Amino acid sequence: MRRGKSGKGVRGLTQNAGASTLAGMEFPLVHRPRRLRRTNAIRRLVRETEVLPGDLVWPLFVHGAAGDHAVESMPGVSRLSIDSLLRACERACGLGIPAVALFPCIEQQKKDAAGTHAFAVDNLLFTALRAVKSRFPELAVVSDVALDPYTDHGHDGLLSKDGSVVENDSTVDALCRLALLEAEAGADIVAPSDMMDGRVGEIRGALDRAGFQQTAILSYAAKYRSAFYGPFRDAVGSKTGGDSIDKSTYQMDSANSREALREVALDIEQGADAVMVKPAGPYLDVIRTVADKFEVPLAAYQVSGEYAQIHAAAERGWLDLRKARDESLAAIKRAGADFILTYFAAEFAADLSIK
Ligand code: PBG
Repeated sequence: MRRGKSGKGVRGLTQNAGASTLAGMEFPLVHRPRRLRRTNAIRRLVRETEVLPGDLVWPLFVHGAAGDHAVESMPGVSRLSIDSLLRACERACGLGIPAVALFPCIEQQKKDAAGTHAFAVDNLLFTALRAVKSRFPELAVVSDVALDPYTDHGHDGLLSKDGSVVENDSTVDALCRLALLEAEAGADIVAPSDMMDGRVGEIRGALDRAGFQQTAILSYAAKYRSAFYGPFRDAVGSKTGGDSIDKSTYQMDSANSREALREVALDIEQGADAVMVKPAGPYLDVIRTVADKFEVPLAAYQVSGEYAQIHAAAERGWLDLRKARDESLAAIKRAGADFILTYFAAEFAADLSIK
């Protein structure tokens, strides 16, 4: 810029300033950015981004069995019994993590094509929501609105008669019913993760008509079809037949960013209180653009595959787990996310408190 304006810019500076010789050339080293990197104290002073426990949402998997079952592809993550879930929530509170996001793992025999079990008032999710909110009223609970934990085909919505497409409008009706039941069970924030068109407005209307004006909507607004969801689908058992399920007729194409702005704009117009970009790490450019263009709080989801790849490399001794974790989270915040859903939440917050 300076160069453009003066026409001589850096060269002008070179001619006027004193001498410092580099590689035999006269070169005025006025600017030495390394001065501000010299000590840890100075580095801390000029640090632009800091991830704090208050920025984090901890996603937790719950199952109906007693005891915990490790998720193989997500080291350190388990499907929790309700008791363990409550212990995890206690840990979150102790660490200053303000919110958890609950994902139920439903037994295969309870699943069907219509996801009927999603609407059983005593199902696992509603039981978990009630248990968490009665024990930890101060903890914010985010509840996913989508049918994939309950459908035997693993899609987020209802299929057309011939099974060829996920129907939009009938799915939106089902999502409204689900969101309402989640709000009734105590969810502070409902988070539609399905990518159907028009669901935010319909859910807002349904909640308001039922008296849940204070239940917030965090919309998975720019949710990409991604290979990075694989371990999550292991965790909730929504993998059908081993091959990865194709959600490309509703989740976004990873090649697009302008389209993300349109999705976010539509969801805000329909009443989303906060919006999300997902995955996070591979979509930092999208996070930055959305953060610059819109005024609502922006969430980013560091998804299961992002977590798994850091762990996998660390297990082989190829990456330092903590450093890679901290760097990945700082990058997401630096890109413009106001808060981050991450499976690292508790360990990260615990390490912060001992630093
Ligand atoms: C589905 C849902 C998915 C995730 C959160 N909600 C997977 C999918 O869309 O298939 C992924 C989260 C993760 O990978 O950590 N409604």
